[in-house]
Amino acid sequence: MAGRGRDAPLYSIEHASFQSSDLLISDLVLTDTKLGKGADASVYLVEWNGTVCAAKRLHEVLLEDESPGGTKKLVSNFEIECVTWSKLRHPGIVQFLGVYLERGSRLPVLVMEKMDTSLRQYLESHSKDRFPLELKAFVLHQITQALAYLHSQDPPLVHHDLSPNNVLLNVETFGTKLTDFGMSRAINPSSNIRKSSIKGTPAFMPPEALQKPPHYNEKLDIFSFGNIILSTITHRWPEPCHLTQYKGNQLIALDEFQRRERCVEMFTAQEKQLFLPTVRRCLENRPDKRPSSAVLVQELRHITSVLSHDGHVVRPFEHLRQQLSAKEEECRQKDEMIKMNNEALTEKDEALSEKNEMLQEKDEMLREKDEVVRDKDEALREVLREKDEALREVLREKDEVVR
Ligand SMILES: Nc1ncnc2c1ncn2[C@@H]1O[C@H](COP(=O)(O)OP(=O)(O)O)[C@@H](O)[C@H]1O
Ligand SMILES: [Mg+2]
Repeated sequence: MAGRGRDAPLYSIEHASFQSSDLLISDLVLTDTKLGKGADASVYLVEWNGTVCAAKRLHEVLLEDESPGGTKKLVSNFEIECVTWSKLRHPGIVQFLGVYLERGSRLPVLVMEKMDTSLRQYLESHSKDRFPLELKAFVLHQITQALAYLHSQDPPLVHHDLSPNNVLLNVETFGTKLTDFGMSRAINPSSNIRKSSIKGTPAFMPPEALQKPPHYNEKLDIFSFGNIILSTITHRWPEPCHLTQYKGNQLIALDEFQRRERCVEMFTAQEKQLFLPTVRRCLENRPDKRPSSAVLVQELRHITSVLSHDGHVVRPFEHLRQQLSAKEEECRQKDEMIKMNNEALTEKDEALSEKNEMLQEKDEMLREKDEVVRDKDEALREVLREKDEALREVLREKDEVVR
């Protein structure tokens, strides 16, 4: 792995603001390979004791916050994220591994399990027919399970920023996990008013979170989940339209579901039948009318089982098996072509060697003819030499007689 270098951990004054020393880890090899980027941080590929992991590091530019205590607040918020995350243990939550203090940097790095991609990246790079409905149900079911885990904490933990950016996938198994606990907070039911406004992904935020001051509970995540269903089914960002609309010359207020009807119109009949009742209830304006995450787990389990009874295959392994047999078929066809090409080559090879033999035979014949011509030439030259000799003898004798 091309590393940026191995650093000994530094527990120096620069990092004095990071209090939770029990979370610190060492022996990390950082790389420049970026896995993703959010509003606050970038995530890089790293190696920790020989294991490939992911590391979240806040954007350096945030350090330029010159407001009083700006950087300190930033690191302390990041520390809250680390501490909150470090306590979570669930198959549907990206596993937190530790915090690394990099030499020469004022920012701690959060090290976690590495995933293949985000749900958003997957939806953007695959068409609807390359991401079958039963797999989408499988993914959505796992999100509800992770949410039910967060909400079952005492007091409930609200994720606050549930969107396809913060849902990660392993693309072979379709294992699905939630990440980014930068805004997650435990909500005490008796004081569920937050002083500051909530940052989040606007299209996924319920109306109560946009109030000043925001007054909400874990049903905030349920509203976001309704939007996750919309974007997972349509591969679109569920951007709501205006709060009001003219009907004739009357201005009417739209509820949150109506504000996203353009998205719903893109559903097929089957998608409407299976998912619309759940979406409608998740997007209720009133939090108390939205289902709990425990109820959503049951609803998504039901949807996945309906899809499997309809002759669809729910498990990703079947999807993988189909992909595998398509690849096998492709390989078989290529093999067939290679064999045909090979046969054609062998035939050409045979024709060539036949021609070669013929040429050799002709060569042999020519050589033999050459031999015969040379012999005849030799015999002729002998006859001529003898005749020449005899003639010369006759002339000599005649000369003798004359003299
Ligand atoms: N563990 C991980 N494995 C692979 N990619 C990740 C991982 N964590 C985050 N990413 C990618 O990095 C992006 C930003 O991470 P995130 O923690 O959400 O940062 P931010 O707090 O700035 O939103 C994610 O949307 C995702 O694409
Ligand atoms: Mg994020």
